Amino acid sequence: MSVPVFEEIKALIGEIEAQAPASQEELEQFRIRFLGSKNVLKGLMGEIKNIPNELKRDFGQLINQAKEAAEQKFAEVKDRLDAAGDDAAAGHLDLTAPGEPYILGSRHPVSITMNRIIRIFERIGFVVAEGPEIEDDWHNFTAMNTPEDHPARDMQDTYYLRNSTTMLLRTHTSPVQARVMESQQPPIRIIAPGRVYRNETISARSHCQFHQVEGLYIDENVSFADMKQTLLYFAREMYGANTSIRLRPSFFPFTEPSAEMDVSCFICDAKGCNICKYTGWVEILGCGMVDPQVLENCGIDSKKYTGFAFGMGIERQAILRYKVNDIRLFFENDSRFLKQFSSAI
Ligand code: DAH
Repeated sequence: MSVPVFEEIKALIGEIEAQAPASQEELEQFRIRFLGSKNVLKGLMGEIKNIPNELKRDFGQLINQAKEAAEQKFAEVKDRLDAAGDDAAAGHLDLTAPGEPYILGSRHPVSITMNRIIRIFERIGFVVAEGPEIEDDWHNFTAMNTPEDHPARDMQDTYYLRNSTTMLLRTHTSPVQARVMESQQPPIRIIAPGRVYRNETISARSHCQFHQVEGLYIDENVSFADMKQTLLYFAREMYGANTSIRLRPSFFPFTEPSAEMDVSCFICDAKGCNICKYTGWVEILGCGMVDPQVLENCGIDSKKYTGFAFGMGIERQAILRYKVNDIRLFFENDSRFLKQFSSAI
């Protein structure tokens, strides 16, 4: 018996087999028509209710046959188009074209110098300590033996926070000494790197912000000779094995006695140049034995413990080492300047 819908399905199968979608777009049209959620075969399935019972099985088989034909055609064409697409894409890929440039950063000369200093002290057991850049009057000045009317405050004028006479931007890393001593008992062996601020007119030689590294060593029986030997070790690691040091008497409120340390000029080998102003020596840091009053201010028994401290400016050392003639260059973020310094650390 011939049922019209059977003929229709057979015609569809013929159509499916004859189809040759030539692009992904045409294939998609094919998919929608024969395999999509509202495909023609589904439409024809609805006819099943009009099919006599004895033919229902044949009808189902025929529909399935059409569906399989559509699936097979789809898979075949898709494979072919995908492969062709890959070839086409590969054909357009120019392996000789220059890559997108990826600009590598470089370490800041201040970081390079700071890391060098930290590494040198870490090797002899110092650990890094940090403190806040917004500091209170007590830690920055008073605990460090510089009370309110002390003339040494004049040399370290700074920026105070609005509506506060006690909160300020720290003028040196020395307050980290006070913070560490308040929070732990000796033995103390710390190195404190960080940024500091001063109310200075900005010029080639001075800036309102710069960096320092502070050192503090407190234990029983620590002597001036220990300080001298530690600093000699540092100078030789930093500036070369032949470096000599000299300590000149100086004054800092928080150390007694105090000294300033020079190293033999590493630019001219102490022969005399414009960096060392033809003296053969370059000033590097301030140091001294921690004043017993500072120990007491911070809760450490000055009868039992002694110690030494030192502090140095980082930019100054970077300026000397790299022969930079203007401190402002360190803060301008000009990559043409910054990328000239590379280092493994
Ligand atoms: N804080 C001093 C300054 O900024 C530097 C200094 C000198 C630090 C002597 C010290 C020290 O720890 O003992 O000028």
